[in-house]
Amino acid sequence: MKITWLGHSAFLIEGSKTIVIDPFISGNPKASGDTGTIPKLDYVLITHDHEDHMGDSFDLANRDNAMVVAIHEISQLASEKGLRSEGMNIGGSLHFEGLKVHMTTAVHSANLGREAGFVVEMDGKFIYHAGDTGVFTDMVIIGDSFPLDLALLPIGDRYTMGPKSAARAVRMLSPKKVVPMHFETFPLLHGKPDDFQNFVGDASEVVILKPGENLNI
Ligand code: NI
Ligand code: MN
Repeated sequence: MKITWLGHSAFLIEGSKTIVIDPFISGNPKASGDTGTIPKLDYVLITHDHEDHMGDSFDLANRDNAMVVAIHEISQLASEKGLRSEGMNIGGSLHFEGLKVHMTTAVHSANLGREAGFVVEMDGKFIYHAGDTGVFTDMVIIGDSFPLDLALLPIGDRYTMGPKSAARAVRMLSPKKVVPMHFETFPLLHGKPDDFQNFVGDASEVVILKPGENLNI
């Protein structure tokens, strides 16, 4: 399965289904390309309604007639706009053909519904996208519940975990690999991936990507 970092918190996951999470491309100074470079999508997952996460979500869902998966209130808005959408909430799971999506707690803010994270289960792999969040002890439950092959964690500080608290998150989640996100897009997001790697040590394999780069799991 191929996971491509599109910049900020946006990831493209290509397995038996093609999924994008938090596709903030237009107006993103560190985006790896324009939305035209994103392949045809089956699912668009949104962690919360801040603009740097909603981004191009609805436009991409509309382009590909893809299914929007988000918290109930965002899903309702998507439906009102004529998009295909399935709503859910914290602690719940949605089972699609070839894909399971589990919605997890996040500790942040949101205007619509509330903030969340996702565990994506596809082709026997488990990927955790934390959304925007501070570190929280219930990450132990996420780590216990899912054998995470990959965790995508914000490290930019100020609005989310910084490098040190994200390293604490890694020790609770026990993912095989971890990719830092939500840093350096804007100067305020000053957390450094090298610091994160040093704090994590040998607790997990840290993979530092540049926007547009990918890894396989
Ligand atoms: Ni946010
Ligand atoms: Mn954000």
